[in-house]
Amino acid sequence: MVAVTVYLAAIAIGLTVAFFKFIYRRRRPNEPEIVPGNLLWGNGAEFAEHAVNFLHRCQKKFGDIFTIRLLNQYITLVLDPHSYENLAREKVFDFDPIQRQVNHNVFNFELIDARKMLSEAGKKVNGRFLTTGMRNFADNLKNAFAKVSTVDENGNIYQTIGDNWGQDGLRDLTSKTLFSALFYTIFGQGDAIETFEPQTFYKNFDSFHKYFNYLWLGLPVKLFPKATAALNVLSQQPTSDEMLKRPGVSDYIKFSTEFMKANNQSEQDIVGHNLVFLHVNYNTFRLAFWVLYHILDDRATFMALHKEVQDLVERKTETATENGPLGISIEEFDKLPILDSIIRETLRVTSGVFMVRYITQDVEFEMDNGDKALMREGDRVAMYPPAIHKDPEIFEDPEIFKHDRFVDAKFYKNGKELKNPLVAFGSLCPGKKYSLLQTKWFLVNLMNSFDVRLVEGQKTECDVNYYGHEILPPTNDVQVQYRLKEKFQELDFLARRQC
Ligand code: HEM
Repeated sequence: MVAVTVYLAAIAIGLTVAFFKFIYRRRRPNEPEIVPGNLLWGNGAEFAEHAVNFLHRCQKKFGDIFTIRLLNQYITLVLDPHSYENLAREKVFDFDPIQRQVNHNVFNFELIDARKMLSEAGKKVNGRFLTTGMRNFADNLKNAFAKVSTVDENGNIYQTIGDNWGQDGLRDLTSKTLFSALFYTIFGQGDAIETFEPQTFYKNFDSFHKYFNYLWLGLPVKLFPKATAALNVLSQQPTSDEMLKRPGVSDYIKFSTEFMKANNQSEQDIVGHNLVFLHVNYNTFRLAFWVLYHILDDRATFMALHKEVQDLVERKTETATENGPLGISIEEFDKLPILDSIIRETLRVTSGVFMVRYITQDVEFEMDNGDKALMREGDRVAMYPPAIHKDPEIFEDPEIFKHDRFVDAKFYKNGKELKNPLVAFGSLCPGKKYSLLQTKWFLVNLMNSFDVRLVEGQKTECDVNYYGHEILPPTNDVQVQYRLKEKFQELDFLARRQC
């Protein structure tokens, strides 16, 4: 009995010491207010329940800057949108450790030279590589469109044309078209492993992503059997040598594979890195799903975009000198104001991301209005774009989707114009341009060559349990019907502006 009591007392003392060492903190002068929370998980439960509502409540009570705790991580939130540029520029706010946390905790690998890899990732999806990538993407998308218009959801031959409408979930359809094109544009074609194909990856990513926030915070993947099972499937990839030989493999995967091999990184590291690259590209798939949903859900949005795409095709047809597909250049489809506004509005309502940085040394951070706050080395500092995107002072009726909200518009907070009203890509995403162009090309082509409609009564909304993900997934898929148009002018991606 005495032994048990001593044992329990030792555990209690151990836990108390651990609490004071790793969790408890007293606010120092000039530090932001600490939001009270649960003894163990801090503000985790309120954050997980509905992050935007929780942060708006805190903002009302504590102002534009305050500190929350998720498990043992203290995060200072800066909710003043005018201070975005100061935060993005601050040298002691470092993204590298956050990136490492994702690589290590979620995808189970380390990078020997992360900076070099990231700077190359930026180069290989921009400049001249952007056009090569887009060219490959356009070809892969054409194949995917051809497949869904000739094969039904069970793989049987079925022409979706005339009175033959095909039916599928909108997410499933977007995965069979856009995600499939993304997958082949990244990894090229080949038949090394049966499971290394877009549909298997789409389904297993879906299961795996459910646990992303828990894994990111450091909970071991073994706690979640479904995540472990999905990760096992996702890890079945061609060997690095096979990957390098796949026809159509992207310049970035070629570079990263060769670079990691040259640095003696293991096959497992290479597999993990491939996954993280597909994971960032997966955001384009989520975005495209939502844009399509909003277009199909709202007649005015559909009609406005339909007219814009039709006008473009007619303009091009009038000036075409040859028969065959109409060449459309990046400049032409990137500058369509309605399409651009629909995509921005979709990003505004579906973005769920944290723009988070590790604080490498104690610092006095200056807000845009001149207020100063002390921040501690080892904490994290973050902006929370969804809280800005849903601020009624900046965006009137923030819960309502308005397709033309961003056409020639300016946005204000406290009477001052915002330099960056939409911060869904954070300040560092190198894939922003690529991703937006892919989404636009996908939509222009879909609107041009397919009839698509939502099945009566189908509705969905953002799943707020996933706040923290770049783009929120839907709570459920919706059924759509689609068919190839009987008459349409085929479009071709033009790598250069036509003279
Ligand atoms: C809708 C699509 C996308 C969204 C919403 C998105 C969003 C983001 C966000 C919010 C960040 C964190 C940035 C920060 O904290 O400042 C990020 C980082 C990153 N994104 Fe994207 N992204 C998208 C597509 C892509 C694509 C297509 C690629 C690759 C081709 C990509 C590559 C990356 C990389 C490599 C980083 C890490 C940057 C670094 O460490 O410096 N993203 N993205």
